[in-house]
Amino acid sequence: MPDKPVLQDISLYAQPGQKIAFVGATGAGKTTITNLINRFYEIDRGQICYDGIEIGQIKKADLRRSLGIVLQDVNLFTGTVMENLRYGNPDASDEVCIQAAKLANAHNFIMMLPDGYQTVLQGDGGGLSQGQRQLISIARAAVTDPPVMILDEATSSIDTRTEALVQSGMDRLMEGRTVFVIAHRLSTIMNSDVIMVLDHGRIIERGTHESLLEKKGVYYHLYTGAFELE
Ligand SMILES: Nc1ncnc2c1ncn2[C@@H]1O[C@H](COP(=O)(O)OP(=O)(O)O)[C@@H](O)[C@H]1O
Ligand SMILES: [Mg+2]
Repeated sequence: MPDKPVLQDISLYAQPGQKIAFVGATGAGKTTITNLINRFYEIDRGQICYDGIEIGQIKKADLRRSLGIVLQDVNLFTGTVMENLRYGNPDASDEVCIQAAKLANAHNFIMMLPDGYQTVLQGDGGGLSQGQRQLISIARAAVTDPPVMILDEATSSIDTRTEALVQSGMDRLMEGRTVFVIAHRLSTIMNSDVIMVLDHGRIIERGTHESLLEKKGVYYHLYTGAFELE
């Protein structure tokens, strides 16, 4: 049972198509916010609404269909690459999956696998690099084509060569969607509509990259390297 609230006084609003970013140290509450948005946790107090509808009134299946989630840990299963891509949308055609893989920058590496899209991923894709798993995860989200996306530190623990591919795939995935993004690398969130700086479960600063730099507060110090996250 929770004794001490993890989040306090969190109030935010996302317009359709906006990109909302969360930054802050480990334990600040970033993942908890996303877990509330996808209703993995229920809120104790307060309210979360989608299009004015209270989250509790929305069927979990409907909610999850509208939400794409890309996490740092990618869960792949033993099956073909194609089956893994289709995971969130069993009705998707091969063409849709391949288009999604192209958008995610996953197509090229998939084509180099022994059987391309029909390659069976053994041991949950353990033979793939972290970056390749991430590209599949982005492609998977693109297959489901959700209006809302949650990206939680999706580019950390990737080699720098793959990182650029992941980043550009992610940028394309975010286009035209409402996105909640958590990133350690501030370069990935600089272009957000709003950046929220979290500390101990509270929003301590919010604004655009430019306005937060002008403010010369915590974000400014993170950006200029005076503070480091973690
Ligand atoms: N399931 C849970 N039950 C209780 N406390 C949790 C749970 N998950 C996270 N916490 C606590 O909530 C706080 C925020 O965690 P989290 O949202 O994961 O932070 P962040 O993603 O910013 O690193 C931390 O103090 C963490 O220990
Ligand atoms: Mg987290």
